[in-house]
Amino acid sequence: MGEIKRIQDVASEASACDTIPAEFVRPEDERPGLTTYKGDLPQVPVIDFSIKDEEKLVAQIYDVSCKWGFFQIVNHEIPDDVVSRLKEVGTTFFELPQEEKELYAKPPGAKSLEGYGTKLQKEVNGIKGWVDHLFHILSPPSAVNYKFWPKNPASYREANEEYTKYMHKVEERLLRYLSRGIGLEENELRTAVGGDDLIYLLKINYYPPCPRPDLALGVPAHTDMSVVTILVPNDVQGLQVFHEGNWIDAQYIPNALVIHIGDQLEILSNGKYKAVLHRTTVNKEKTRLSWPVFMEPPPDMEVGPHPELVTNENPAKYKTKKYGDYVYCKFNKIPQ
Ligand code: OGA
Ligand code: NI
Repeated sequence: MGEIKRIQDVASEASACDTIPAEFVRPEDERPGLTTYKGDLPQVPVIDFSIKDEEKLVAQIYDVSCKWGFFQIVNHEIPDDVVSRLKEVGTTFFELPQEEKELYAKPPGAKSLEGYGTKLQKEVNGIKGWVDHLFHILSPPSAVNYKFWPKNPASYREANEEYTKYMHKVEERLLRYLSRGIGLEENELRTAVGGDDLIYLLKINYYPPCPRPDLALGVPAHTDMSVVTILVPNDVQGLQVFHEGNWIDAQYIPNALVIHIGDQLEILSNGKYKAVLHRTTVNKEKTRLSWPVFMEPPPDMEVGPHPELVTNENPAKYKTKKYGDYVYCKFNKIPQ
């Protein structure tokens, strides 16, 4: 390996000057310096997971999932030190010498996303994102390939397994509430996306400092393909969501879980829940990291508008197809 240029190296070279290579410069209509909303901020919604009135929780989550497709959860019962350890071991991995990280490089031509990498395929407009990543599956155990889990630091595996244990509880609760919100029986939604076979795909995003954060983006505007994505960031601001025509900073809340409604949930709910358009900015001095867990149906699972939500008056707005085919089309920019 070694022939792929990592953004971490691009960043060290660029740190000596105050310019960035042209392939990272966004067209004006994407530049965060020009397109970030600067008025009185509508703050992104925050949900308190500890309130005892479940009906109220269901109603609140329904409301924000329809209007924003995005919210943060506080009081979620994942202990702070479990989240801190997840972040610590991931950060330590990215601080290892380049050769050591390359041991986990995504094999060229591999079908799976797993491994350390940098997006190879340029975007439609030919511009690159200022970010490196590591992908690996956390769950179910039968889908885990430890080859892609860093062995250094030694506590990497334990910290990730511990986080996964707590993630299960949050995921199950969240899907139950989301199921009730659209009028389905509480287990229905989870069953429709694979039940215990639901795949938890962890990504670590590593956004090195960037001399021109006004011109570049980390991850460009997209919606996640997942059912839902549950993310924790480090303390560097950077995530933005598109809401009512504006790019809004999602305020960093220590210990909150950041929830994105993904494409599969928009499809299943026949358009009631909205997959949120989001992107990330980068920072001049600081390294930003984030740990999204994409909750995905198994590739052979067919996903479409739920039959109970489709009527003569409200016909299916989306096709039903295997999740694997959906992913293929999205990656290859083939209409769904
Ligand atoms: C992603 C993503 C957001 C973030 O990787 O899909 O949207 O905060 N990341 O890094
Ligand atoms: Ni995303």
